[in-house]
Amino acid sequence: MLGLNASASPALHEITWTDLAPPMQSLLGARGIDHASFGAYVADVRRRDRERVRDGDLDHLMYYALQSSAFTNLPPIEPATSAKAFAQHATIPPPVQDRFTALTSALRDRAHDARLSYFREIVERERASGTPLPRLLSEQYARAMRSLYEKEFAAAGDAYQRRGLSTDTSVEAGYVVYLGLAALHALEPDRRVRRVLVVGPGLDLAPRTGLVDVGDPQSYQPFAIIDALVGLGLADRAALRVRALDINPRVTDWMTRAHGTRPRLSLISSIAERDGVRFTADYREYFAAVGRSVGVEQRLARAAAGHLSKSIQVSAGVTDAIDATTADIVVDRLDERFDLAIITNVFPYLSDRDLLLAITNIVAMIAPGGVLLHNESRPLVAEASHALGLPLIHSRSAVIATVEGAKSPLYDAVWLHRVP
Ligand SMILES: C[S@@+](CC[C@H](N)C(=O)[O-])C[C@H]1O[C@@H](n2cnc3c(N)ncnc32)[C@H](O)[C@@H]1O
Repeated sequence: MLGLNASASPALHEITWTDLAPPMQSLLGARGIDHASFGAYVADVRRRDRERVRDGDLDHLMYYALQSSAFTNLPPIEPATSAKAFAQHATIPPPVQDRFTALTSALRDRAHDARLSYFREIVERERASGTPLPRLLSEQYARAMRSLYEKEFAAAGDAYQRRGLSTDTSVEAGYVVYLGLAALHALEPDRRVRRVLVVGPGLDLAPRTGLVDVGDPQSYQPFAIIDALVGLGLADRAALRVRALDINPRVTDWMTRAHGTRPRLSLISSIAERDGVRFTADYREYFAAVGRSVGVEQRLARAAAGHLSKSIQVSAGVTDAIDATTADIVVDRLDERFDLAIITNVFPYLSDRDLLLAITNIVAMIAPGGVLLHNESRPLVAEASHALGLPLIHSRSAVIATVEGAKSPLYDAVWLHRVP
Protein backbone atom coordinates (compact mmCIF):
# COMPACT_ATOMS: atom_id res chain seq x y z
CA MET A 1 0.00 0.00 0.00
CA LEU A 2 1.29 3.41 -0.86
CA GLY A 3 -0.69 5.56 1.53
CA LEU A 4 -4.01 7.23 0.99
CA ASN A 5 -4.78 8.96 -2.24
CA ALA A 6 -4.89 12.38 -0.64
CA SER A 7 -4.50 14.18 -3.90
CA ALA A 8 -7.64 15.82 -5.08
CA SER A 9 -6.33 18.02 -7.90
CA PRO A 10 -4.73 21.14 -6.44
CA ALA A 11 -5.80 24.49 -7.91
CA LEU A 12 -3.83 25.59 -10.92
CA HIS A 13 -3.46 29.27 -11.62
CA GLU A 14 -2.01 31.45 -14.30
CA ILE A 15 0.70 33.79 -13.05
CA THR A 16 0.39 37.56 -12.94
CA TRP A 17 3.15 40.19 -12.75
CA THR A 18 2.59 40.60 -9.00
CA ASP A 19 3.33 36.89 -8.44
CA LEU A 20 6.95 37.66 -9.36
CA ALA A 21 9.47 38.81 -6.76
CA PRO A 22 11.03 42.25 -7.51
CA PRO A 23 14.49 40.83 -8.45
CA MET A 24 12.77 38.55 -10.99
CA GLN A 25 10.74 41.49 -12.30
CA SER A 26 14.07 43.30 -12.86
CA LEU A 27 15.58 40.35 -14.75
CA LEU A 28 12.49 40.22 -16.97
CA GLY A 29 12.46 44.02 -17.30
CA ALA A 30 16.00 43.82 -18.69
CA ARG A 31 14.60 41.43 -21.29
CA GLY A 32 11.75 43.68 -22.39
CA ILE A 33 8.83 42.49 -20.25
CA ASP A 34 7.11 44.79 -17.76
CA HIS A 35 3.87 45.06 -15.81
CA ALA A 36 2.00 46.55 -18.78
CA SER A 37 3.09 43.93 -21.33
CA PHE A 38 2.99 40.90 -19.02
CA GLY A 39 -0.61 39.78 -19.69
CA ALA A 40 -0.06 39.81 -23.45
CA TYR A 41 3.25 37.96 -23.02
CA VAL A 42 1.58 35.19 -21.01
CA ALA A 43 -1.19 34.82 -23.63
CA ASP A 44 1.46 34.62 -26.34
CA VAL A 45 3.44 31.93 -24.48
CA ARG A 46 0.31 29.84 -24.08
CA ARG A 47 -0.57 30.09 -27.78
CA ARG A 48 3.02 29.44 -28.89
CA ASP A 49 3.53 26.49 -26.55
CA ARG A 50 0.27 24.90 -27.73
CA GLU A 51 1.62 25.04 -31.28
CA ARG A 52 4.95 23.64 -30.13
CA VAL A 53 3.21 20.66 -28.47
CA ARG A 54 1.52 19.96 -31.82
CA ASP A 55 4.81 20.36 -33.72
CA GLY A 56 6.51 18.04 -31.23
CA ASP A 57 3.86 15.35 -31.72
CA LEU A 58 4.22 15.65 -35.49
CA ASP A 59 8.03 15.52 -35.27
CA HIS A 60 7.63 12.19 -33.45
CA LEU A 61 5.28 11.03 -36.22
CA MET A 62 7.99 11.78 -38.79
CA TYR A 63 10.75 10.08 -36.78
CA TYR A 64 8.50 7.04 -36.46
CA ALA A 65 7.60 7.05 -40.15
CA LEU A 66 11.29 7.17 -41.08
CA GLN A 67 12.70 4.66 -38.58
CA SER A 68 10.15 2.14 -37.36
CA SER A 69 10.35 -1.50 -38.31
CA ALA A 70 6.93 -2.24 -36.79
CA PHE A 71 4.89 -1.45 -39.92
CA THR A 72 7.29 -2.19 -42.78
CA ASN A 73 10.36 -4.16 -43.81
CA LEU A 74 11.72 -1.19 -45.75
CA PRO A 75 15.13 -0.11 -44.43
CA PRO A 76 15.05 2.59 -41.74
CA ILE A 77 16.06 6.11 -42.76
CA GLU A 78 18.16 8.21 -40.39
CA PRO A 79 16.17 11.45 -39.89
CA ALA A 80 19.28 13.69 -39.86
CA THR A 81 20.42 12.24 -43.20
CA SER A 82 16.96 12.79 -44.62
CA ALA A 83 16.99 16.38 -43.33
CA LYS A 84 20.27 17.02 -45.15
CA ALA A 85 18.91 15.55 -48.39
CA PHE A 86 15.74 17.64 -48.08
CA ALA A 87 17.80 20.80 -47.51
CA GLN A 88 19.60 20.10 -50.83
CA HIS A 89 16.75 18.95 -53.05
CA ALA A 90 13.55 20.24 -51.39
CA THR A 91 11.61 17.16 -52.52
CA ILE A 92 10.42 14.08 -50.69
CA PRO A 93 12.80 11.27 -51.68
CA PRO A 94 11.11 8.08 -53.08
CA PRO A 95 12.28 5.84 -50.16
CA VAL A 96 10.58 8.27 -47.75
CA GLN A 97 7.45 8.26 -49.90
CA ASP A 98 7.45 4.43 -49.82
CA ARG A 99 7.58 4.49 -46.03
CA PHE A 100 4.70 6.99 -45.95
CA THR A 101 2.65 4.61 -48.11
CA ALA A 102 3.40 1.69 -45.76
CA LEU A 103 2.53 3.79 -42.71
CA THR A 104 -0.73 4.93 -44.31
CA SER A 105 -1.93 1.36 -44.76
CA ALA A 106 -0.78 0.37 -41.25
CA LEU A 107 -2.75 3.29 -39.80
CA ARG A 108 -5.81 2.17 -41.77
CA ASP A 109 -5.80 -1.43 -40.60
CA ARG A 110 -6.79 -1.46 -36.93
CA ALA A 111 -4.02 -3.83 -35.76
CA HIS A 112 -3.17 -3.19 -32.14
CA ASP A 113 0.25 -1.81 -31.52
CA ALA A 114 0.48 0.74 -28.70
CA ARG A 115 2.99 2.98 -30.50
CA LEU A 116 1.04 2.92 -33.72
CA SER A 117 -2.15 3.71 -31.77
CA TYR A 118 -0.60 6.91 -30.43
CA PHE A 119 0.17 7.97 -33.99
CA ARG A 120 -3.31 6.99 -35.14
CA GLU A 121 -4.70 9.38 -32.50
CA ILE A 122 -2.38 12.18 -33.61
CA VAL A 123 -3.34 11.66 -37.27
CA GLU A 124 -7.09 11.50 -36.43
CA ARG A 125 -6.82 14.77 -34.51
CA GLU A 126 -5.23 16.45 -37.54
CA ARG A 127 -7.81 14.96 -39.89
CA ALA A 128 -10.60 16.26 -37.64
CA SER A 129 -9.16 19.75 -37.92
CA GLY A 130 -9.13 19.52 -41.71
CA THR A 131 -5.77 18.05 -42.76
CA PRO A 132 -6.00 14.75 -44.69
CA LEU A 133 -3.17 12.26 -44.14
CA PRO A 134 -1.28 12.62 -47.47
CA ARG A 135 -1.11 16.39 -47.05
CA LEU A 136 -0.20 16.05 -43.37
CA LEU A 137 2.71 13.73 -44.17
CA SER A 138 4.18 15.89 -46.91
CA GLU A 139 3.74 19.21 -45.06
CA GLN A 140 5.05 17.84 -41.80
CA TYR A 141 7.98 16.10 -43.44
CA ALA A 142 9.08 19.46 -44.88
CA ARG A 143 8.60 21.28 -41.57
CA ALA A 144 10.22 18.59 -39.41
CA MET A 145 13.22 18.20 -41.73
CA ARG A 146 13.82 21.97 -41.87
CA SER A 147 13.70 22.15 -38.08
CA LEU A 148 16.02 19.16 -37.73
CA TYR A 149 18.46 20.60 -40.27
CA GLU A 150 18.59 23.83 -38.32
CA LYS A 151 19.34 21.96 -35.10
CA GLU A 152 21.84 19.44 -36.50
CA PHE A 153 23.68 21.32 -39.25
CA ALA A 154 23.00 25.06 -39.16
CA ALA A 155 24.66 25.44 -35.72
CA ALA A 156 21.80 27.64 -34.50
CA GLY A 157 22.59 27.68 -30.76
CA ASP A 158 18.99 28.44 -29.79
CA ALA A 159 17.33 26.00 -32.23
CA TYR A 160 15.89 24.02 -29.30
CA GLN A 161 14.07 27.11 -28.07
CA ARG A 162 11.98 27.29 -31.23
CA ARG A 163 11.51 23.60 -32.01
CA GLY A 164 8.50 21.42 -31.35
CA LEU A 165 8.31 20.19 -27.77
CA SER A 166 9.68 16.67 -27.85
CA THR A 167 8.55 14.20 -25.19
CA ASP A 168 11.74 12.13 -25.56
CA THR A 169 12.99 10.56 -22.39
CA SER A 170 15.61 7.96 -21.60
CA VAL A 171 16.94 5.84 -18.77
CA GLU A 172 20.17 7.84 -19.02
CA ALA A 173 18.34 10.92 -17.68
CA GLY A 174 17.84 9.09 -14.38
CA TYR A 175 21.56 8.68 -13.76
CA VAL A 176 22.49 12.22 -12.68
CA VAL A 177 19.20 12.53 -10.82
CA TYR A 178 20.24 9.45 -8.84
CA LEU A 179 23.75 10.85 -8.26
CA GLY A 180 22.34 14.23 -7.19
CA LEU A 181 19.98 12.59 -4.73
CA ALA A 182 22.78 10.37 -3.40
CA ALA A 183 24.85 13.50 -2.75
CA LEU A 184 21.87 15.14 -1.02
CA HIS A 185 21.52 12.13 1.24
CA ALA A 186 25.24 12.16 2.04
CA LEU A 187 25.15 15.89 2.84
CA GLU A 188 21.94 15.76 4.88
CA PRO A 189 21.35 12.21 6.17
CA ASP A 190 18.31 13.29 8.20
CA ARG A 191 16.43 14.82 5.26
CA ARG A 192 13.21 13.03 4.30
CA VAL A 193 11.19 13.60 1.16
CA ARG A 194 7.43 13.01 0.99
CA ARG A 195 6.14 15.14 -1.86
CA VAL A 196 7.96 15.42 -5.17
CA LEU A 197 7.22 17.53 -8.24
CA VAL A 198 8.54 16.22 -11.57
CA VAL A 199 8.28 18.83 -14.30
CA GLY A 200 8.20 17.41 -17.84
CA PRO A 201 8.58 13.66 -17.16
CA GLY A 202 8.23 12.86 -20.89
CA LEU A 203 6.99 9.76 -22.69
CA ASP A 204 9.20 7.64 -24.88
CA LEU A 205 7.40 7.63 -28.24
CA ALA A 206 9.83 7.91 -31.18
CA PRO A 207 13.20 9.62 -30.69
CA ARG A 208 15.02 11.60 -33.34
CA THR A 209 17.55 8.82 -33.74
CA GLY A 210 17.98 5.21 -32.66
CA LEU A 211 14.31 4.27 -32.33
CA VAL A 212 14.11 0.84 -30.70
CA ASP A 213 10.66 -0.59 -31.36
CA VAL A 214 10.56 -2.70 -28.21
CA GLY A 215 7.88 -2.30 -25.54
CA ASP A 216 5.02 0.17 -25.40
CA PRO A 217 5.55 3.93 -25.10
CA GLN A 218 6.16 4.70 -21.43
CA SER A 219 7.12 7.39 -18.98
CA TYR A 220 9.94 6.18 -16.72
CA GLN A 221 11.13 9.25 -14.88
CA PRO A 222 8.57 9.20 -12.02
CA PHE A 223 9.43 5.52 -11.37
CA ALA A 224 13.18 6.16 -11.54
CA ILE A 225 12.77 9.00 -9.02
CA ILE A 226 10.70 6.92 -6.59
CA ASP A 227 13.24 4.13 -7.00
CA ALA A 228 16.17 6.46 -6.23
CA LEU A 229 14.51 8.13 -3.24
CA VAL A 230 13.42 4.84 -1.66
CA GLY A 231 16.63 2.99 -2.53
CA LEU A 232 18.78 5.75 -1.03
CA GLY A 233 16.69 5.94 2.13
CA LEU A 234 15.51 9.51 1.45
CA ALA A 235 11.86 8.47 1.34
CA ASP A 236 9.50 5.89 2.69
CA ARG A 237 7.61 4.29 -0.19
CA ALA A 238 4.29 4.22 1.67
CA ALA A 239 4.41 7.95 2.41
CA LEU A 240 5.82 9.22 -0.88
CA ARG A 241 3.70 11.08 -3.45
CA VAL A 242 4.86 12.31 -6.83
CA ARG A 243 3.15 14.90 -8.98
CA ALA A 244 4.08 14.79 -12.64
CA LEU A 245 3.40 18.08 -14.43
CA ASP A 246 3.66 18.15 -18.20
CA ILE A 247 2.36 20.41 -20.96
CA ASN A 248 1.54 17.46 -23.22
CA PRO A 249 -1.73 15.67 -22.31
CA ARG A 250 -0.37 12.54 -24.01
CA VAL A 251 2.19 12.33 -21.17
CA THR A 252 -0.18 13.07 -18.29
CA ASP A 253 -2.89 10.77 -19.68
CA TRP A 254 -0.42 7.89 -19.63
CA MET A 255 0.23 8.43 -15.88
CA THR A 256 -3.47 8.74 -15.10
CA ARG A 257 -4.35 5.63 -17.08
CA ALA A 258 -1.58 3.73 -15.27
CA HIS A 259 -3.36 4.13 -11.92
CA GLY A 260 -4.33 0.79 -10.46
CA THR A 261 -2.12 -1.11 -12.93
CA ARG A 262 1.34 -2.67 -12.67
CA PRO A 263 3.13 -1.57 -15.85
CA ARG A 264 6.01 -3.59 -17.16
CA LEU A 265 8.65 -0.96 -17.88
CA SER A 266 10.99 -1.73 -20.77
CA LEU A 267 14.26 -0.07 -19.84
CA ILE A 268 16.56 0.28 -22.85
CA SER A 269 19.53 2.62 -22.89
CA SER A 270 19.19 5.11 -25.71
CA ILE A 271 22.96 4.98 -26.13
CA ALA A 272 24.35 1.83 -27.73
CA GLU A 273 27.86 0.41 -27.41
CA ARG A 274 29.14 0.59 -30.97
CA ASP A 275 31.52 2.74 -33.04
CA GLY A 276 33.91 3.26 -30.11
CA VAL A 277 31.19 4.12 -27.58
CA ARG A 278 31.67 2.34 -24.21
CA PHE A 279 29.56 2.69 -21.07
CA THR A 280 31.43 3.55 -17.88
CA ALA A 281 31.44 0.96 -15.10
CA ASP A 282 29.50 3.39 -12.86
CA TYR A 283 26.75 3.86 -15.42
CA ARG A 284 26.50 0.10 -15.93
CA GLU A 285 26.16 -0.28 -12.17
CA TYR A 286 23.36 2.31 -12.13
CA PHE A 287 21.55 0.57 -14.97
CA ALA A 288 21.88 -2.83 -13.29
CA ALA A 289 20.33 -1.55 -10.05
CA VAL A 290 17.67 0.88 -11.30
CA GLY A 291 14.09 -0.18 -10.62
CA ARG A 292 14.73 -2.66 -7.81
CA SER A 293 12.95 -0.47 -5.23
CA VAL A 294 9.81 -0.14 -7.34
CA GLY A 295 9.44 -3.59 -8.84
CA VAL A 296 10.83 -6.91 -9.88
CA GLU A 297 13.51 -7.13 -12.52
CA GLN A 298 13.04 -9.38 -15.56
CA ARG A 299 14.92 -10.01 -18.77
CA LEU A 300 13.66 -8.16 -21.80
CA ALA A 301 12.51 -10.72 -24.34
CA ARG A 302 13.76 -8.90 -27.45
CA ALA A 303 16.81 -6.84 -26.52
CA ALA A 304 18.46 -4.48 -28.99
CA ALA A 305 22.12 -5.03 -29.96
CA GLY A 306 24.58 -2.78 -28.13
CA HIS A 307 21.93 -1.29 -25.84
CA LEU A 308 21.63 -2.08 -22.14
CA SER A 309 18.19 -3.49 -21.52
CA LYS A 310 15.96 -5.08 -18.94
CA SER A 311 12.39 -4.81 -17.78
CA ILE A 312 10.80 -3.98 -14.46
CA GLN A 313 7.43 -5.33 -13.41
CA VAL A 314 6.26 -2.44 -11.24
CA SER A 315 4.94 -3.46 -7.80
CA ALA A 316 1.31 -3.07 -6.81
CA GLY A 317 0.37 0.43 -5.66
CA VAL A 318 3.36 2.32 -7.08
CA THR A 319 1.41 3.96 -9.91
CA ASP A 320 -1.19 5.18 -7.41
CA ALA A 321 1.48 7.33 -5.77
CA ILE A 322 1.88 9.31 -9.00
CA ASP A 323 -0.61 12.04 -9.92
CA ALA A 324 -0.47 13.97 -13.14
CA THR A 325 -1.38 17.53 -14.08
CA THR A 326 -1.37 19.06 -17.54
CA ALA A 327 0.05 22.59 -17.29
CA ASP A 328 2.57 24.96 -18.86
CA ILE A 329 5.32 25.54 -16.30
CA VAL A 330 6.17 28.88 -17.94
CA VAL A 331 2.81 30.45 -17.07
CA ASP A 332 1.10 28.13 -14.57
CA ARG A 333 1.65 27.15 -10.97
CA LEU A 334 -0.14 24.83 -8.58
CA ASP A 335 -1.35 25.67 -5.11
CA GLU A 336 0.68 22.79 -3.72
CA ARG A 337 4.07 22.64 -2.00
CA PHE A 338 6.75 20.01 -2.53
CA ASP A 339 9.87 18.92 -0.64
CA LEU A 340 11.71 18.32 -3.89
CA ALA A 341 11.24 19.51 -7.49
CA ILE A 342 13.06 17.78 -10.36
CA ILE A 343 13.33 19.09 -13.89
CA THR A 344 15.63 17.54 -16.47
CA ASN A 345 15.94 18.18 -20.20
CA VAL A 346 13.10 20.72 -20.28
CA PHE A 347 14.90 24.06 -19.82
CA PRO A 348 16.80 23.76 -23.16
CA TYR A 349 13.44 24.22 -24.90
CA LEU A 350 12.80 27.54 -23.14
CA SER A 351 13.95 31.01 -24.19
CA ASP A 352 15.71 33.07 -21.51
CA ARG A 353 12.48 34.88 -20.63
CA ASP A 354 10.51 31.63 -20.40
CA LEU A 355 13.21 29.96 -18.36
CA LEU A 356 13.09 32.81 -15.82
CA LEU A 357 9.32 32.41 -15.50
CA ALA A 358 9.48 28.61 -15.28
CA ILE A 359 12.11 28.60 -12.55
CA THR A 360 10.10 31.20 -10.59
CA ASN A 361 6.99 29.03 -10.81
CA ILE A 362 8.85 25.89 -9.77
CA VAL A 363 10.47 27.61 -6.80
CA ALA A 364 7.06 28.99 -5.71
CA MET A 365 5.89 25.36 -5.47
CA ILE A 366 8.79 24.22 -3.25
CA ALA A 367 8.20 24.26 0.52
CA PRO A 368 10.66 26.19 2.73
CA GLY A 369 13.87 24.15 3.06
CA GLY A 370 12.97 22.08 -0.02
CA VAL A 371 15.30 21.33 -2.92
CA LEU A 372 15.36 22.07 -6.65
CA LEU A 373 17.31 19.55 -8.78
CA HIS A 374 17.99 20.29 -12.47
CA ASN A 375 20.52 19.52 -15.19
CA GLU A 376 20.58 22.84 -17.09
CA SER A 377 24.05 24.31 -17.69
CA ARG A 378 22.94 27.74 -18.95
CA PRO A 379 24.51 30.46 -16.71
CA LEU A 380 21.11 32.18 -16.60
CA VAL A 381 19.93 29.53 -14.11
CA ALA A 382 22.64 30.65 -11.68
CA GLU A 383 21.56 34.28 -12.18
CA ALA A 384 17.90 33.36 -11.59
CA SER A 385 18.66 31.27 -8.50
CA HIS A 386 20.70 34.14 -7.08
CA ALA A 387 17.78 36.53 -7.70
CA LEU A 388 15.42 34.09 -5.99
CA GLY A 389 17.82 33.61 -3.06
CA LEU A 390 18.47 29.92 -3.67
CA PRO A 391 21.93 28.81 -2.61
CA LEU A 392 23.61 26.08 -4.65
CA ILE A 393 24.19 23.11 -2.36
CA HIS A 394 25.79 20.69 -4.75
CA SER A 395 26.73 20.17 -8.36
CA ARG A 396 28.58 17.47 -10.24
CA SER A 397 28.89 15.92 -13.65
CA ALA A 398 29.15 12.25 -14.52
CA VAL A 399 30.36 10.38 -17.58
CA ILE A 400 27.85 7.94 -19.02
CA ALA A 401 29.98 6.62 -21.86
CA THR A 402 33.38 7.25 -23.37
CA VAL A 403 33.71 7.80 -27.11
CA GLU A 404 36.93 6.75 -28.81
CA GLY A 405 38.48 9.63 -30.74
CA ALA A 406 35.85 12.20 -29.66
CA LYS A 407 36.71 15.49 -27.96
CA SER A 408 34.54 14.69 -24.97
CA PRO A 409 32.70 11.71 -23.51
CA LEU A 410 28.91 11.49 -23.21
CA TYR A 411 28.12 13.03 -19.86
CA ASP A 412 25.43 14.82 -17.92
CA ALA A 413 25.52 17.23 -14.98
CA VAL A 414 23.28 18.04 -12.05
CA TRP A 415 22.72 21.05 -9.79
CA LEU A 416 20.89 21.15 -6.44
CA HIS A 417 19.60 24.36 -4.84
CA ARG A 418 17.97 24.78 -1.45
CA VAL A 419 14.92 27.00 -1.03
CA PRO A 420 15.33 29.20 2.07
C1 LIG B 1 12.68 16.19 -23.67
S1 LIG B 1 11.44 15.71 -22.56
C2 LIG B 1 12.37 15.31 -21.11
C3 LIG B 1 11.77 14.16 -20.35
C4 LIG B 1 12.45 13.80 -19.02
N1 LIG B 1 12.41 14.89 -18.10
C5 LIG B 1 13.88 13.37 -19.24
O1 LIG B 1 14.79 14.05 -18.79
O2 LIG B 1 14.07 12.31 -19.85
C6 LIG B 1 10.70 17.28 -22.14
C7 LIG B 1 9.34 17.14 -21.45
O3 LIG B 1 8.97 18.42 -20.94
C8 LIG B 1 7.65 18.75 -21.33
N2 LIG B 1 7.57 20.23 -21.44
C9 LIG B 1 8.19 21.02 -22.35
N3 LIG B 1 7.86 22.31 -22.16
C10 LIG B 1 7.04 22.34 -21.09
C11 LIG B 1 6.36 23.37 -20.40
N4 LIG B 1 6.45 24.64 -20.81
N5 LIG B 1 5.60 23.05 -19.34
C12 LIG B 1 5.48 21.75 -18.93
N6 LIG B 1 6.09 20.73 -19.56
C13 LIG B 1 6.87 21.01 -20.60
C14 LIG B 1 7.45 18.03 -22.67
O4 LIG B 1 6.10 17.80 -22.97
C15 LIG B 1 8.23 16.75 -22.41
O5 LIG B 1 7.41 15.76 -21.85
